[in-house]
Amino acid sequence: MIAARRLHVAAELDARLPEWDAEADDVLVCRAVRQETHDVKTFVFSGRSPRRHSFKPGQFITLDLIIDGRAVNRCYTIASSPTRPHLIAMTTKRFAGGVVSPWMHDRLKPGDEIRAIGPMGEFNCVDHASANGKYLLLSAGSGITPMMSMARSFHDLALETDVLFLHSARSPADIIYRAELALMARSPGFRAVPICEHDSLGESWTGLRGRVSLPMLQMVAPDLMEREVFACGPAPYMAGIRAMLVQAGFDMARYHEESFNFDDLAPVDAALAPPANWDVAKTYKVEFTKSRRTIEVPADMHVLAAARAAGMRLPSSCARGLCGTCKSKLVSGEVSMQHQGGIRQREIDAGMVLICCSKPLSDLVIDR
Ligand code: FES
Repeated sequence: MIAARRLHVAAELDARLPEWDAEADDVLVCRAVRQETHDVKTFVFSGRSPRRHSFKPGQFITLDLIIDGRAVNRCYTIASSPTRPHLIAMTTKRFAGGVVSPWMHDRLKPGDEIRAIGPMGEFNCVDHASANGKYLLLSAGSGITPMMSMARSFHDLALETDVLFLHSARSPADIIYRAELALMARSPGFRAVPICEHDSLGESWTGLRGRVSLPMLQMVAPDLMEREVFACGPAPYMAGIRAMLVQAGFDMARYHEESFNFDDLAPVDAALAPPANWDVAKTYKVEFTKSRRTIEVPADMHVLAAARAAGMRLPSSCARGLCGTCKSKLVSGEVSMQHQGGIRQREIDAGMVLICCSKPLSDLVIDR
């Protein structure tokens, strides 16, 4: 029995492990569920067989779930660090009235298998590394997850960085990863400063109180102007941070924020609904090579919406051209695409399109 366990551990830690590749096998197995706070849990996954997970701290992954018989895609930032590549972890807050987070909290358990796509995302501390090693990580609520991946990476690599991590929570009981942040803050070059709006039952908060303000930022980070700033949180929080930095005269080229927040978005189904007066008189043939399906798509309908209407199950999440989940190779044909930053110009130049926000201008062949 012990020998078998040793073999198991040896296989998991084999440095020559192949990378987990969602194109080849998109299954992730839930290995553990951890309660972080009263309404936040971390879900830990790995491939069916040992795999290395390679990603940039700050990137997200799209879960491709079937909930009550319906296909649902949802993006979650990876909270774990690529320095611990054998597992991948997502931390989610239970949003009452939501579809995915209550399902995850109530039903997802170790041993369950899900499908996932990714990782992807431009918001990361690799592509936007600080030239002088100074970082300011700002998060609120469950926006802490990309910052935690960055913080864990900086910590594990023991780089000569100067990281200041300001996290806003409602109360001390709502501070996610509180103990781990305190532990990391024992290392030189890492400071964690939680800010709470109010006390929690049984604990009076003695740290910084209220909401982040410019005087508060300048007090904890007198060298604010020298730092690379990353922010993630609800839209009003990030709007406030942006306004403060602009007011301070900060170089906004060194400011990076998670550009979408799925909690703030309307349901995807609404985004994928056909337009009220769509013109079915003009349609184009759209062939999906991997799915081996060809469908008719009205000229004024987005390709993804038409594929959904035809019963196809294609990866998507925001359905607004934001997240990049539906990015696909356009093998032939022409589209009119109106995205919101989910695709880079060089990807467009290479023939990629976001099918959620692309309407056909001709018959199409899409590598999906
Ligand atoms: S589903 Fe998010 S960009 Fe298309």
